[in-house]
Amino acid sequence: MLLLPPDSGLTARRIDENDTAALQALCEACTDYHELIYGQPAAPDEASQLLRMLPPGKTLADKLIFGLFTPRPRLCGVLDVARDYREPGEWYLGLLLLEPAVRGHGQGERVLRALEDWARSQGARRMRLACAEQNEAGRRFWERQGYRVDRRFPPRRMGVRDTVLLEFLRELTQGHAESRSKSSAE
Ligand SMILES: CC(C)(COP(=O)(O)OP(=O)(O)OC[C@H]1O[C@@H](n2cnc3c(N)ncnc32)[C@H](O)[C@@H]1OP(=O)(O)O)[C@@H](O)C(=O)NCCC(=O)NCCS
Repeated sequence: MLLLPPDSGLTARRIDENDTAALQALCEACTDYHELIYGQPAAPDEASQLLRMLPPGKTLADKLIFGLFTPRPRLCGVLDVARDYREPGEWYLGLLLLEPAVRGHGQGERVLRALEDWARSQGARRMRLACAEQNEAGRRFWERQGYRVDRRFPPRRMGVRDTVLLEFLRELTQGHAESRSKSSAE
């Protein structure tokens, strides 16, 4: 169970096809993100794709997709993670997306730290994720959170643009308390 800190004012719960309409509305509210990464707005079936999307060789049993909810409750963000990809103990964060009004208040950090703590309790040793090179705010965010670029993939077609993906990595097993106090002091 993913428990978000009380000061976030948000709660997290697993979402599924019953949440498709709310997730689609979130994707459409995040047009800036889709334009930046894919060069086009969210697809009409973006939410269903997101609910089904899996890393190669994984099944839905390995996919954990959480909605982030305001107290009302209203879906204001989504977190998609696959466990044990590419190897046991290595988790892959497919997406962390907050609606624009929720960004810039430290909520991304609160959600990420809660995810890392929970993943660690489930046996995760390492977290990976991919961030588009042109997503400069995203890159700054991951670097502030203690992630470092581990790989750079050749450009690939994503939507209507060619995008370079940077793969970020963070070891979860060593020095996380130190890194956390450093990042919260910044
Ligand atoms: C990336 C993302 C998850 C980060 O979450 P966040 O809650 O916005 O992150 P933070 O609040 O820690 O930082 C965002 C910015 O707000 C600033 N900020 C942080 N706390 C702040 C506060 N209390 N008041 C004002 N600004 C603040 C940070 O300095 C940072 O500035 P920067 O962009 O110049 O580096 C979120 O912005 C998002 O969903 N973006 C769109 C999707 C995306 O790019 N996801 C990553 C895909 S790889």
